Amino acid sequence: MSRAEAPDAHSDNRSDAHPGAHADGAPGTPPAAHPIVRARELVKTHHGEGAPVKAVRGVDLDIERGEFVAVTGPSGAGKSTLLHLLGGLQRPDSGGIWFDGTSLDSYGEAQWAVLRRRRIGIVFQFFNLVSNLTVADNVELPALLAGRGPKRARADRAELLEELGLAGKERSMPGELSGGEQQRVALARALVNHPDLLLADEPAGSLDSKGTREVLRLLSRFHARGQTILLVTHDARLASAADRVISLFDGRVVDDAVLDADGDGARRRGTGVAGVLELKD
Ligand SMILES: Nc1ncnc2c1ncn2[C@@H]1O[C@H](COP(=O)(O)OP(=O)(O)O)[C@@H](O)[C@H]1O
Ligand SMILES: [Mg+2]
Repeated sequence: MSRAEAPDAHSDNRSDAHPGAHADGAPGTPPAAHPIVRARELVKTHHGEGAPVKAVRGVDLDIERGEFVAVTGPSGAGKSTLLHLLGGLQRPDSGGIWFDGTSLDSYGEAQWAVLRRRRIGIVFQFFNLVSNLTVADNVELPALLAGRGPKRARADRAELLEELGLAGKERSMPGELSGGEQQRVALARALVNHPDLLLADEPAGSLDSKGTREVLRLLSRFHARGQTILLVTHDARLASAADRVISLFDGRVVDDAVLDADGDGARRRGTGVAGVLELKD
């Protein structure tokens, strides 16, 4: 099945479904390209054991195709919650999310699962590989689930594992690999369907400094080839690998800065509180 056949992919793709869709439509002009992700006024409260926690308190966000965006901020700022909302792993209390111009407000679990399978790759701090499947199967499985033929899935898996320095590890079980290797398998799994968006939540959070450098190098390499990435990290140095850094504090965006190509300075966007985050050490 192709992407275009995704259930409801177009059903709510009306112009009135796009906030900020400009009245720029002179007859004959092509419609403006959509950001790959748009969020408006996202709010999310967690209801755990104690008092409810308002983890995300009104976040607006646009991520354009090809951007490498880091979301940073201290522990508890709401970074993971925001990533979970953007990946459909949690639902907002209120606010809207658009993916490539399509409103996801009415999406249920099944539709989100299809969207993630085809268009959103996710890597987590603790890899979340399937422990009783081989490395090869961990990477091929999402390709097969997305409807890729077995031959093609195998070829794509082989190419990615080679690229990620994991050739020869195909028959290994995840538990036999180092943390850095497991995270590279997780990256291969997340990228095997060529997602429009890669979400990474503290992908180096459980790695040593060598593993951390490796993950960053790989993210930068895929970004250089056009991969859109949203990286969540509490580590400002990791964040500076991105070309735009959004700072969250207490569930709100307090800064949004585009870094210069040489990483030497930052241009601030919007009206965020500048200078909350030291981008350089
Ligand atoms: N499942 C949950 N149940 C209750 N509270 C949660 C849950 N997940 C996160 N929180 C709380 O929401 C706030 C934001 O958490 P989180 O999004 O994980 O922040 P970060 O990733 O920036 O550390 C924190 O106060 C955290 O304790
Ligand atoms: Mg987190």
